[in-house]
Amino acid sequence: MSESIISSKHLDLYYGDFQALHDIHLDFQKNEISALIGPSGCGKSTFLRCLNRMNDMIDNVTITGSVQFEDKNIYAPQTNLVELRKQIGMVFQQPNPFPFSVYDNVTYGLKIAGIKDKEVLDEIVERSLKQAAVWDEVKDHLYDNALSFSGGQQQRICIARVLAVSPSIILMDEPTSALDPISSAKIENTLLDLKEKYTIIIVTHNLQQASRISDRTAFFMDGTVIEFDKTRKIFTNPASQKTEDYVSGRFG
Ligand SMILES: Nc1ncnc2c1ncn2[C@@H]1O[C@H](COP(=O)(O)OP(=O)(O)OP(=O)(O)O)[C@@H](O)[C@H]1O
Ligand SMILES: [Mg+2]
Repeated sequence: MSESIISSKHLDLYYGDFQALHDIHLDFQKNEISALIGPSGCGKSTFLRCLNRMNDMIDNVTITGSVQFEDKNIYAPQTNLVELRKQIGMVFQQPNPFPFSVYDNVTYGLKIAGIKDKEVLDEIVERSLKQAAVWDEVKDHLYDNALSFSGGQQQRICIARVLAVSPSIILMDEPTSALDPISSAKIENTLLDLKEKYTIIIVTHNLQQASRISDRTAFFMDGTVIEFDKTRKIFTNPASQKTEDYVSGRFG
């Protein structure tokens, strides 16, 4: 049984006078991987950032409509943004570990939350790095600088950093596009494991990746959602000719 966890309604976004998102209605299901696909500039990253209010950090942005997360509108004025971003974490295209040790990266959010007990921290570090499928590679180097690892390892350390604060949703913006195929495959497998406990929303330009790992796919064009359905349907029998043209490689 699928259960909705986060949904946007009547979501419009403007950068100054330019409208980048038009009336987006999307409803994401718990413990699924949802992929956002579409040509460059269609608004995928902009939409993803709406889901944990990362666009608040950009000047001159106007957002109307709502995003309901577990029955609350995250755009309500009383929303605690630190808490929100803990519950809805984000992984970016370029691995961006802090220039500290692996251990300090993974415990960063926990220390801010006031957790000091070494035993508790050690346990969460191990669990998070295992969940991110990078434990075996870093367990003997926990106090080495995170930047001394490969791009693929750094990205999995960043995933562990997000997991350490026990989010419900993980947003990912092209998390493997800067990585080699072997590292990408490791991350894809990690995501398939993670969806048992988490909900994942991933932007990808790699259509094979979307079809391999996602349960549902939203196809964006020019700031609108053309179609959102089961991934299998989007790739084999889409409702819209535009989706058909895109997934069969006729444009984009
Ligand atoms: N900070 C910003 N200020 C002004 N316009 C922006 C800003 N960020 C994005 N845009 C514009 O909004 C539109 C959507 O951009 P967005 O980055 O969301 O697209 P995207 O689908 O993620 O593209 P890509 O696949 O290339 O990453 C584009 O026209 C882009 O130029
Ligand atoms: Mg983008």
